[in-house]
Amino acid sequence: MSDPDLQMLRSRLQQSQDLVVLTGAGISAESGVPTFRGQDGLWRQYRAVDLATPEAFQRDPGLVWEFYRWRRRLLAPLRPNPAHLALANLEERRHRFTLITQNIDGLHTLAGSRRIIELHGNIWHLRCTGCGQVREDRRLDLPPLPTCDACGALWRPHVVWFGEMLDPAVLAAAYAAVEASDLMLIIGTSGLVQPAASLGRLAKQRGAFVAEINLEPTPQTDFYDLALQGKAGDLVPQLLLPAR
Ligand code: OAD
Repeated sequence: MSDPDLQMLRSRLQQSQDLVVLTGAGISAESGVPTFRGQDGLWRQYRAVDLATPEAFQRDPGLVWEFYRWRRRLLAPLRPNPAHLALANLEERRHRFTLITQNIDGLHTLAGSRRIIELHGNIWHLRCTGCGQVREDRRLDLPPLPTCDACGALWRPHVVWFGEMLDPAVLAAAYAAVEASDLMLIIGTSGLVQPAASLGRLAKQRGAFVAEINLEPTPQTDFYDLALQGKAGDLVPQLLLPAR
């Protein structure tokens, strides 16, 4: 490891008492999960408003479920990559550490992370549109219109759709973690979707050192203290794993 910025960030990490990491689709790209806004991004191929909004679900729940069943089938065989694994490893060694993710793919959990705030929900969780219960369900053969055994209403994917508010309790937990942190790492997110996009600036306002790891600069890069450009799967383990 020769990059002086990487060295500097490693020593910041060693000094940090309270670390927050925010991840986006870029951390899962090397596992084979398509990002949202890149060349082959999901929102280039599908109009999000047709498939990932409450109105779309009201209009045609069967179509929306077909889209989510397809996405679940694509995600099912994918495995965490070295960046997810390095974060899970870090959690075991750190007392004050919070992982906040915008990803719904569940790969952080598969990697072994436990203290996760999933801002946008989880595609492997279902929520009842009637009684509101949430449960994990990893079946790939869900019926076209799955219904709740308790109340008979439709299940929906437990993810945040366009036009929906984030769960206030989940968001409050994210804010609290960011406000308490002295170091924040922002990995693989385009920084275009609120409120996640503003968490880094909040950390900075509260006096934390904020570093970004991304393939390319983002609209937020200039507000941060440091930006490392490269693949999360290379940089995150170099940064986080103990030197051998
Ligand atoms: P985007 O697709 O907007 O951005 C992914 C970012 O990751 C881009 O800046 C890429 O340059 C970067 N990237 C790609 N591959 C990478 C790699 N191997 N290593 C490091 N960086 C890499 O995804 P998000 O920012 O996560 O919301 O998108 C935010 C939200 O928009 C998503 O959670 C989703 C979407 O609409 C909902 O569904 C509510």
